[in-house]
Amino acid sequence: MKDKILAYLKASQDHVSGQELCERLGVSRTAVWKVIRQLQEEGYQIEAVRNRGYRLVASGDVYNDSEIRSLLKTRQAGCSLVFLDEVDSTNNEVKRLAEHGAPEGTLVVAELQNAGKGRRGRSWVSPRGSGVWMSFLLRPEFEPYHASMLTLVAAMAVEEAIRVTCGLECGIKWPNDLVSDGRKVSGILTEMSTDVDSIQYVVVGIGINANTDAFPEEIRDTATSLRLCTGKPVNRAALVAAVMEAWEHYYQQFLETLDFRILKDAYNQRLLNRGREVRVLAPKGAYTGISHGINDAGELMVETADGQVNSVMSGEVSVRGIYGYV
Ligand code: BTN
Repeated sequence: MKDKILAYLKASQDHVSGQELCERLGVSRTAVWKVIRQLQEEGYQIEAVRNRGYRLVASGDVYNDSEIRSLLKTRQAGCSLVFLDEVDSTNNEVKRLAEHGAPEGTLVVAELQNAGKGRRGRSWVSPRGSGVWMSFLLRPEFEPYHASMLTLVAAMAVEEAIRVTCGLECGIKWPNDLVSDGRKVSGILTEMSTDVDSIQYVVVGIGINANTDAFPEEIRDTATSLRLCTGKPVNRAALVAAVMEAWEHYYQQFLETLDFRILKDAYNQRLLNRGREVRVLAPKGAYTGISHGINDAGELMVETADGQVNSVMSGEVSVRGIYGYV
């Protein structure tokens, strides 16, 4: 009922009478009033005017399942939404749900992660009240080989969501870091469970430093947040909904060819490492070269001094700029 009342209030420019809500939902005035009180406690500014009814004045940074649901415009992404106050890692939670048969599109969002995970076994700082920590479940029918590209698809979705929601144009540091002012605002961790030669499920986990004001010493020089970059607070629920919408769009395009043919140009336009000297930290040793952007397989093409072009796969290596993080 809370979701429905919220939807009515959002859809109406003017006051919605208590009587109308009672009749539409088939509940008593007291029941409606209780839900309005609950919404107000969650942070919604709802004006109550005698003889006119209720009007939603502002949602602020209300961050909960009802708010995200009310903003989602997707067909399947986020179809089942779990919002948690605290969790070890949203990726872990999606994995647990996947093991119990959760459907593709299941989305987990948390206010706080007490064991957030980054790539390469690093931890991911995920405090309460400031960031977007979200993961969703895929059950693709393609072969595991294609899955390495999903993380690049997610990077495109996050870039678009940030641009649409905050008006900020981020660049992509291959394969999937979102960067603004030379610092990281978002990272993506994709994990996969496979049988012998098929995918059981994939978890795409996204962390966005949205309203973060300050970072721990270790990442202070390389991390930033959307609010620090734009000077404006971020509506995190709107950002989650925008990520899911953009994801659905790009994932659909990816599924058409199961590679990066359609998305490559758009990705390369946003790629910060393009045409730059990069250092590839490969398992067999580090080397430097000029990055020429990605190919149809989403691999970074790096030309070494002897003219040889290596196709670097994500997951296999770390790529750094010569003079710093990007
Ligand atoms: C990286 O750049 O190292 C990847 C960071 C990924 C962080 C996100 S936050 C939501 C999801 N849950 C996790 O534990 N990690 C990802």
